[in-house]
Formats: sequence, structure tokens, C-alpha cells
Amino acid sequence: MTPSDKFYITTPIYYVNARPHIGHAYTTLACDAIARQKRMTGVDTYFLTGTDEHGQKIERSAVAAGKTPQQFTDEVSAEFRALWDKMGIKYDGFIRTTDEHHKRGVQQIFRKIRDNGFIYKAKYTGQYCVSDELYVTEGGPGAPCPICGNPTETVSEENYFFKLSAFQDQLLKLYEEQPDIIRPETRRNEVISFVKSGLRDLSISRSSFKWGIPVPDDPSQVIYVWMDALSNYCTAVGYGSPEKRDQQMFEKYWPADVHMIGKEIVRFHCVYWPAFLLAAGLPLPKSIVAHGWLLFEESKMSKTRGNIVRAETIIDVLGNDALRYFLMREIVFGQDGSFSFDSLVQRYDSDLANGLGNLTSRTLTMIQRYFNGTVPYPSPTAARTAAEDGIAQLAAVVIRNYNQLFSEYQFSRALEAAWSLVAAVNKYIVEQEPWAVAEKGDEGSLSRLATILYTSAEALRIVTALVHPVIPESTQKIWAQLGLKKLEQVNPQKLKWGGLALGTKLGKIEAVFPRAEKNFVERMQQMEQDRINQSAAATASAVTPEPAGTGAVAGQPATQAAGATPAIAAPTATPATPGAASNGIISIDDFAKVELRVGLVKTAEKVKGADKLLRLEVDIGTEVRQIVAGIALAYAPETLVGRKVVIVANLAPRKLRGIESNGMIVAASFGEQGTPVLAGFLEDVPIGARLK
Ligand code: ME8
Ligand code: MG
Repeated sequence: MTPSDKFYITTPIYYVNARPHIGHAYTTLACDAIARQKRMTGVDTYFLTGTDEHGQKIERSAVAAGKTPQQFTDEVSAEFRALWDKMGIKYDGFIRTTDEHHKRGVQQIFRKIRDNGFIYKAKYTGQYCVSDELYVTEGGPGAPCPICGNPTETVSEENYFFKLSAFQDQLLKLYEEQPDIIRPETRRNEVISFVKSGLRDLSISRSSFKWGIPVPDDPSQVIYVWMDALSNYCTAVGYGSPEKRDQQMFEKYWPADVHMIGKEIVRFHCVYWPAFLLAAGLPLPKSIVAHGWLLFEESKMSKTRGNIVRAETIIDVLGNDALRYFLMREIVFGQDGSFSFDSLVQRYDSDLANGLGNLTSRTLTMIQRYFNGTVPYPSPTAARTAAEDGIAQLAAVVIRNYNQLFSEYQFSRALEAAWSLVAAVNKYIVEQEPWAVAEKGDEGSLSRLATILYTSAEALRIVTALVHPVIPESTQKIWAQLGLKKLEQVNPQKLKWGGLALGTKLGKIEAVFPRAEKNFVERMQQMEQDRINQSAAATASAVTPEPAGTGAVAGQPATQAAGATPAIAAPTATPATPGAASNGIISIDDFAKVELRVGLVKTAEKVKGADKLLRLEVDIGTEVRQIVAGIALAYAPETLVGRKVVIVANLAPRKLRGIESNGMIVAASFGEQGTPVLAGFLEDVPIGARLK
């Protein structure tokens, strides 16, 4: 079998700490489009997605949700799967890292690496970001995570270490010899300079929690969640199985052709993963393709931040293809791009309803009306003009460019090319005025009319086949209305002008992209708001505290447990309160240790270089305190001055971005949204008053 006989593409496996949003949908549907296109060209394609279910972040989210990790991951994983099904994602495999066959495969990889002499035991003391499950080697206690910016926790454990440092030269050689392994170029350069700056050995196990795959021969440790997660790409296609059939599958599909990922997980995929594979003696993936971030309100849409938009909202109002088209067309693949409901509806109206939808309905309706629903014969000569030749030539160029751009993952440009044909044909129809030609009714006009409508229908056929992988549902409909079959078997690379058989009988004509109604933007915004309110209500009831009076800080453990941006000034490095009962209940004495006081904000300003932090001066009666709070995404500094807030007054001081913080501001946090809302009072209260 030659390499091009198969194509294996993967999405990241998504964390199940919260439900999916359109950021995950973005990667998944890009892979879906690529996989669909490959299948159309006749290549044996395997498209894998799944969920990443182990590790401290998930364990904490489960605790915060009051569930066992297994129950919690079962539920959230099912939600991911249900969304992909609802979106019509045609994945061939869906892996869960809690699958038995996966666990077995990961242990086998661990054993191989150990047998090859690349694992040793040592003590790790350093920083860890639970949100990104990343060992942070830069900076000391409380240092921010280089990926998400949240403060890290200090970890000190006896662990198994992977000799990553031994692979520095091999990796650099790999990037040199196989430049296409990391795409785009900018990411490749970042990786090269990261590796050149020196690789340290990596802790690949943890002993302080249990939710993971046990280290072979040492069940007191669980395998580092990233080693566990990355291995999915092998275990999903049969690695580690004793069955012959699975081994053959692995032989056939591994190495993967494309690992599609978001740019924040490049280090794991381009440094750790190839090093693990080299150490295990397994072939390396052919390419890792990193795209940019989908931004919402200027910052990365993320479960942790809570500034997310659900795919369901868009699908329920505008349909699957609207979301697919928008994300592929509007965002330049590889770069960050903003999402807004306004631009979504605008794109839908201009390109789908008025563009392709209009081309479809006017072309087919006229064939229906003037030729009784049968694709007419174009005139061979007499009724033919330069305009038809222009369309045919443009179509040939578009076919070539579209395929080329698509294969380079330049989806927006590919679609732009396809829509240049849509626009040209719509313009052509307006200029040729087939309805006026039809009025004349003579023989010559009839043959002219046939030519115009054949030209339009043929261009429509070509665009429909080209963009099928991107908007599969509506193109299926258009295809059926054109009276054609087996769209998924049309090879887009072999499309040629003139392929539409004369005399094809049209199917039933129906609108494909009904125009968006005026209130669609508000409707979607309202749906998102309702969802936020619902989940806030659910969170509020979930964290209602037992002992009276703890309400003011009740949100905090849950927030931290979910890995959310803490809406607090001085997040502590230790995750659990020592001595707290395992059910989370504390005594009144424990609570009395927390000194909560009313403060008045005197000044507030943004902290340079930290988009989440504000520096506040808060008067608490006896003194004015400097407090750094992670609330900048929710509050403009000027709106806080003169406002009464609740602060924890007896926290040990901490430095955040080099600024000392002497206390913490109390805020409610919207569950998985992580949106902070400051605690306040309806009645007036004196500055410095104690809350108890
Ligand atoms: O990182 N814009 O999982 P995750 C674009 N479990 N893409 C986005 C996005 C956004 N705003 N938000 C998420 C993990 N994504 C690990 C991966 S793989 C062995 C383990 C997409 O749930 C994008 O593909 O944080 C990103 O890399 C991925 O979801 C991260 O998902
Ligand atoms: Mg993430």
C-alpha cells in the first residue's frame, strides 16, 4: 500500500471539564470537511475525534459538580458526541481515554519507553497549571501559566521522568528534514526556538491524585495526562491490542497524516509527542497543523473563561451549514478570528441566502417553468456568446484554485474562489435576462434560453460538488434538486465543465437557504443569555453552603476546582484546605478564621500586560489596601471607583505580576462561565464592617 492510499486525520481529544462550544466545533468541522473531501477523491479515510477524560482538572471538575469522575466524564463525553452527531460530523472513530483498550495501549507505550531506557524516577518540585495540565518551568510559586495566564500551583512529588533532554538534537533534525511536519511556518519557527532554548526532562506521572491510568508495575502513580491523551492517536487505531485485526488496522493507518490542533497545544504535539514516539520506537505523524483561536469579545473563547458561544444556538436558528460555512469562510485558517452574531447573519444572508441560494432557486425555477423541469440542451453555436465561454473558463480556474487552496487548508480563500463563480453566474443571469428572452418565444430565443439555463445549472453543479465537504447538507439538497445522485462519490479534483447530462430531470425544488429573519441576531443572543442564566442558577443551587454565613466565599472552591479564572486577588497555591473534611463541610470556627470586611474602592487601574488583572486601592476603614484582582474582563476600572465591595482581609500577601496584593475581593462566579460578579449590599454599610 502506498502512503496516499489512506488518510488518517485527528482532532485533539477535548477535555470534558465542561460542555463543548464553537471553538471545539471549529476544529472538528475543519477536519470533517477535509475528511469528506478525501473520501470524495476515493482515498480510504479515517477521521478520529474523542474526549480527554483523565487528570487533575477533570477530577476537580467532577468534584465541583458533585459527581464521581466516571459519572461526570460519561455525561460530558456523551454531550460532545451528541453535538457532533447533531452537526452531522462523519467521524470514523470516537475515542475516550477511559476506554479499556486505550488504557492498555498507553501502558504499553509507557513500558516501551521505559524498556528503551528513557524513564527514571526523581523528585519534581515546581509549578503546575491544572487548567492546561502543564509543567511550568519558568518562574516560582504562583508564576503565571504561559498558556492561560492563570497562577500555577506548586507541586512536589516523587515522579517518573521522561528523558526529553535526550531528544533535543533528534527533534531539531526532524524539523529541519521534514519542514512540513509543523504547519504553518510561524508555529514551526516557535517550536524550533523553544527546542533550541533547551529541553528539560519531563515528569510523566503524578502521585497526589488517582484519576488516571496507573503506571505499569507502580499503581501508586498515574501516567501524566498528556502522555495518556497524546497516545490516543495510536490506541484509537489499534495500538496495544492483542487482536490481529487491530494490529493490521494500526499498520494501515499509523502514522497519522494530520493532527489538527489549536495553537495553544503546539508544544505538546510538536515536542512531547514526537519525542515519546521516538523513545517508543514508533513512526512519527506526517504533519501537525495548528490553527488560530476563535475570539469572542476580543479574547479566546474558552470553557475556562466562560465567554463562549454554543454551536447549538446557531444550528437551531440558522442550521448546520450556516455555522460550517461561516467558520470556514470568515476565519483565515491559522490566524485568530472573531466571532459575532452580526457577522454570522451577514455572511449567511449575503453568501448563502442571496448568493448560492438565489442562484439555485432562480436557475432551477426557470428550468422548471420553461423546460418542464428537464435540463435543456445548450445551443452548439448560434445562440452561444462570449459570456458563456467566460463562465466556462472561470469555472475551470475555480476548480483548479479551489482544490489547490483546500489542500493547503486555506479554506476561506478556497470558498472565496468558489463564490467568485457564484457571483459571476448570478451577474450573468441578471445581464442575460432569461425571463425576457423567454417572453419572445421564437425558436432562436428558445435556444438562447436553453444556453443560458444550461450554463447556470452547470456552474451550479460544479460549485455544489466543490463545496460539498464544507456545507454537506445543503449541497445534498441542491444536488437532489438538480436531479443528480451520489454527490459524495464525485471527485472534486476531476470536475470538468460540461458534465451535467442534458435531459437530466430535476428533483423537487425547495428553498435551500431561507433568508434570515430580522430578529435572528437577538434571538441567538437571547438563547445564549438564557443558557448562562440557567447554568448560573444551577451553580448557585449546587454550591449552597451548609453552615450559615459561608455564602460569601462559597463560590471560590468550586471556581478553583473547575479550573476557572479565579475572580479573586490572591489565589492560593494549595488546592485543598488542610484539615477540611472530605465532604467539604467546615466548622463555624474554620469559617471564623476568614476575615471578611466591607471596603470602598478608591482607585482602580488595569495591570500592564495582564488582561485579566486590575490593581485596586481599597479603603477598609483602618487602612487602604492594595489588591490585585482577576476581574478585568468583567469590570472596567472606572466603574469600580466608589463602589463598596467585600474583601478577605486576612489573607497572606502575594505578588501577582510583581505587584503585591493584600487581600482578595469576593465575587460570585458563574459556574463554568467563570464570569465574576462582585458581592455587594442593597443597604448602605459602613466601611470596615465585618461580615460573619
Ligand atoms: O487541549 N478557538 O483540550 P481542550 C479555536 N485535551 N479552537 C478552539 C478554541 C477556540 N477558542 N477553543 C477550543 C485539550 N478549541 C486537550 C487536547 S489532544 C491529545 C489533548 C479547540 O478541550 C482547538 O482545537 O482544551 C484546541 O486545541 C482544542 O479545542 C482544545 O480543547
Ligand atoms: Mg484548552
